[in-house]
Amino acid sequence: MANKKNRGTETKPVSLITLINQSSPVSEQYRTIRTNIQFASTIDHEVKTLVVTSSGPGEGKSTTSANLAVVFANAGQRVLLVDADLRKPTVHKTFSLQNNVGFSNLLSTKETMNDVIQPTVVPNLSVLTSGPKPPNPSELLSSSRMDQLVRELRGGFDLVIFDMPPVVQVTDAQIMSSKVDGTMLVVREGIAIKESVMKAQKLLQMVNANLLGVIYHGTKNATDQGYYYYGT
Ligand SMILES: Nc1ncnc2c1ncn2[C@@H]1O[C@H](COP(=O)(O)OP(=O)(O)OP(=O)(O)O)[C@@H](O)[C@H]1O
Ligand SMILES: [Mg+2]
Repeated sequence: MANKKNRGTETKPVSLITLINQSSPVSEQYRTIRTNIQFASTIDHEVKTLVVTSSGPGEGKSTTSANLAVVFANAGQRVLLVDADLRKPTVHKTFSLQNNVGFSNLLSTKETMNDVIQPTVVPNLSVLTSGPKPPNPSELLSSSRMDQLVRELRGGFDLVIFDMPPVVQVTDAQIMSSKVDGTMLVVREGIAIKESVMKAQKLLQMVNANLLGVIYHGTKNATDQGYYYYGT
């Protein structure tokens, strides 16, 4: 039963369908998205750092980020999933990991990557949990330390996926989109508001984000999940 008191602050793990049922149609869709992202990566413009965001809350950003991370790792790539939603972190719950230290520590203290990155049960997949909630997520993300960190992480992995908050509500995803190689926008039928999705696109364009595509989640059934590729 939904606990209304906790709505907005309490977070839950997301479903790792790509781990539980690799042959399901939804897992196949995630592999299709993987293929399209791989095709968007060229020698001149490699896609090694990726932001996943949406216009509003609850559209499936964390579900998408985690499942994409799994299918890329399954393809033999060394993947890091970063919980960059410092306001509503979920990744530690999804992968049953401790979250005493994480991304926020890397940004605000002298911790190093190796101190805070954790392995997961999925071969090739590491996770950087959010760490303690900072009072100023946007400032931390727009710091020069963040630029340096993106470079370091980019050098250490084949693919780094940043699970972000919604782009229309807070500026975090806009900031990070300007620092990474590509951005995916998740849109969930029945939850997304058309005007808000258009605003999200505008906000991403304003920072010259490289919008690689829109991942569309339908509501009717698990297989009703589509992917619209924008091209580069
Ligand atoms: N395609 C889908 N169909 C049905 N339910 C979904 C789908 N994608 C995600 N969900 C469910 O919706 C809820 C929110 O998903 P998720 O946490 O991935 O969204 P989010 O965009 O990361 O949310 P937030 O804005 O709170 O970070 C979860 O309970 C998840 O299981
Ligand atoms: Mg989320």
